Amino acid sequence: MILPNIKEARVRTKDKVEISYDKYNIPNTIKGIGKNKKYTILTYGCQMNVHDSENISGIMEELEYTKEENYEKADVIILNTCAIRENAHNKVIGILGRIKKLKEENPNIITIIGGCMPQEESVSNMLKDKYKWVDIVLGTHNIYDIPVLLDNIMKERKQNIEVYSIEGSIIENLPVKRDSKYKAWVNIQYGCDKFCSYCIVPYTRGKQRSRLPIDILKEVQELKDKGYKEVTLLGQNVNAYGKDLENKYTMANLLEDVSKIGIDRIRFVTSHPWDFSSEMIDVIAKYDNIMPYIHLPIQSGSDNILKKMNRRYSTNEYKKLFYELKEKIPGVSITTDIIVGFPNETEEDFQKTIDIYNELKYDLAYTFIYSPREGTPASTMKDNVPKEVKEERLQRLNKVVNKYAKENNEKYLNKVVPVLIEGYSDKGNKLMGYTDTMKLVNVEADPSYIGKIVDIYITEVKTWSMEGVLNSDRN
Ligand code: 5AD
Ligand code: SF4
Repeated sequence: MILPNIKEARVRTKDKVEISYDKYNIPNTIKGIGKNKKYTILTYGCQMNVHDSENISGIMEELEYTKEENYEKADVIILNTCAIRENAHNKVIGILGRIKKLKEENPNIITIIGGCMPQEESVSNMLKDKYKWVDIVLGTHNIYDIPVLLDNIMKERKQNIEVYSIEGSIIENLPVKRDSKYKAWVNIQYGCDKFCSYCIVPYTRGKQRSRLPIDILKEVQELKDKGYKEVTLLGQNVNAYGKDLENKYTMANLLEDVSKIGIDRIRFVTSHPWDFSSEMIDVIAKYDNIMPYIHLPIQSGSDNILKKMNRRYSTNEYKKLFYELKEKIPGVSITTDIIVGFPNETEEDFQKTIDIYNELKYDLAYTFIYSPREGTPASTMKDNVPKEVKEERLQRLNKVVNKYAKENNEKYLNKVVPVLIEGYSDKGNKLMGYTDTMKLVNVEADPSYIGKIVDIYITEVKTWSMEGVLNSDRN
């Protein structure tokens, strides 16, 4: 049993990160154990987790398990968890209750918990003490070990917790089963060294480690060769890509080299304003296949709160960057993240967030009530803001967010925009896809358009989506 430790997770060493091309492997004793068996993965949290789940699926399928959407019918249930806020945590606790009942009826079910939650000391301890029936607990650093952990469980049915606080190697030989045939996630960097005072990620994901450019470019080339239309480069703070590499190679260099491969669409998330260089903006502006869409979390419009959040920029610096993006990248759509109710946020602080929003008029924002995370500096700050005030602020902010979302969408009415058609819309009667600027569009069109980038004429706009028709259908 290996339990995580928050003090260790905080440590940043200068040690060189090992890159392994053969660490993942399936022990002979469990080759084919998944034959005629089914697995379900329930994924919570960010795109990083979504992509980790694609790797986990890849592993399970190499073991010959088949995917089952309904966890109630699965032989192996895997929870890939998120620790970012209390509500993500609570969702997992809720589902665990239901899985326990299933397991009482069928003790052969294997339950695996991975992702960010077990990286928290308190969670792994809770699983050890109160959830002994959970078979395997692993963290974000040892997905590659799933075959070995399964092997151990097959030999002895006893809870096994293996969560490392300190990041290990970058594993380059993990299999992947992607959810889409057209859009792909590509990791470029793991971990984060920013240590914003509210955020658990530097503890759950470890020190910042960049993948080598050659490995990233090879992956993108392979995706292009397979017919993929879009890649999203993934990291907690992608703009800092390369800072930990031996040879000087930046995010601007990477974007340019990825662009030259010639895949139709390139996106990247998430950006921290601190590391967004002018060179990067110039590259985005220069290449048509780098999408004019930037997610640029501001978190708060108050300099006082930004300082307490340890964000390392002022609102003026943020605005300068924002306007440079708007100026150099025509039609760019910019979205953001905002936390309300940070400890001791005053009405005046909050009003500054509303003011800056009214000035910058974002395309969209993901808004959250601050949630204290154990082990982070902010969690020890005394807070005098009542819960109801926080909730009321969130509602006020969301009204502003929705207003500008609709207003920005209105610019698209009666215009023609390129949309990568991904599949059927939620209601199932139309197709859906995203514009280059990341606007969701529902289209009435033949399913043969799925997987293609098509010109769509926008006929109706709403707050969260738009309706359109094929431009070629217009007479
Ligand atoms: N409480 C609330 N929101 C948070 N986020 C990160 N940590 C917390 C927290 N402790 C938000 C930030 C971040 C997004 C992914 O989640 O806005 O950008
Ligand atoms: Fe992703 Fe952060 Fe949630 Fe982990 S804690 S899943 S890195 S959002």
